[in-house]
Amino acid sequence: MLRIIDCRQISGINSPTQAQLNNLQKDMPMATNPPAGQVAARFTDQVAIVTGGAGGLGRQICLSIGAEGGKVAVFDTNAEAIDQTVALLNAGGTEAVGHLVDVRDHGAVTSAVAAVATYFGRIDILIAAAGGSLATPRDLADIAPADLDLVIDVNVKGTFNCAQAVVPHLLRAGGGAIVTFSSIGGRSTSPVTGVPYAAAKAAILGLTRRLAREVGPGGIRVNAVAPGLFLTGRLQGMFDDMTEADRSEVLDGIPLGRMPQLQECVDPVLFLASGQSSYITGAVLDVNGGRFMAG
Ligand SMILES: NC(=O)c1ccc[n+]([C@@H]2O[C@H](COP(=O)([O-])OP(=O)(O)OC[C@H]3O[C@@H](n4cnc5c(N)ncnc54)[C@H](O)[C@@H]3O)[C@@H](O)[C@H]2O)c1
Repeated sequence: MLRIIDCRQISGINSPTQAQLNNLQKDMPMATNPPAGQVAARFTDQVAIVTGGAGGLGRQICLSIGAEGGKVAVFDTNAEAIDQTVALLNAGGTEAVGHLVDVRDHGAVTSAVAAVATYFGRIDILIAAAGGSLATPRDLADIAPADLDLVIDVNVKGTFNCAQAVVPHLLRAGGGAIVTFSSIGGRSTSPVTGVPYAAAKAAILGLTRRLAREVGPGGIRVNAVAPGLFLTGRLQGMFDDMTEADRSEVLDGIPLGRMPQLQECVDPVLFLASGQSSYITGAVLDVNGGRFMAG
């Protein structure tokens, strides 16, 4: 229930005339509230591609977009997990398709994106979540050239490939939103992941800003999230394997004093993908309980 405070009682200012109110409302077209008791669905009839959409955070993002009226295309390399995600989406009444696609493969990405546009008739949103440290070693001495290539290729080139393929479709739709995935490891340092991951996630921030500048005139917003540690299945294992000292470094360094729920990363992603962030582009949103605070 919205509580309206009458400023006139506090400051003694005069009430605006109806004409002034009409002008104010014209300047604030989005400041309307849904009827009491109803939450506005932010993605009704919009089409979102979610890369890594069958993974821990990606799947939750797909389900949350679907729950708010969106149609979803799941891009991932894990066929079984794609099928499960699409089945979950369909069970919840969401129109969804899955594409077995490796984001490193420029041609495959371009074809899959075109297929989504043909199937749904439009594309409005790209969530580029495919990535991670991909089971590569953390410590410098253990990192092989192939490990570095894998982490850079999936995180950086994969994000680039998807953004490049999607932008023409967003332009055709009259604009849209791209959300990229950095990490606290790319904003600061993380004891969990190594140098290649830090380099890749920092590169994604440069990619995000430069892309935002280039596509902004077309009504496309590009923003990054930089999550702290969210214990998706894979990371729970990594967390459990860490030394007590490393685990304490993570936990003691979180001012909010607790590990997060997955939805606490999903909600900021949805905010950046939705019209609620309509004047935000080229930004990075730290989602880490305060473990890293930007100046
Ligand atoms: N979970 C965290 O704590 C955390 C923290 C910071 C950043 N992130 C970032 O968030 C994103 C999602 O992380 P997550 O924890 O959900 O990871 P996850 O491993 O659970 O999911 C990643 C998904 O990406 C898919 N994938 C991997 N390589 C791919 C490729 N080449 N092409 C297409 N799909 C591919 C995997 O099959 C998987 O389904 C990643 O970019 C990760 O770096 C996660």
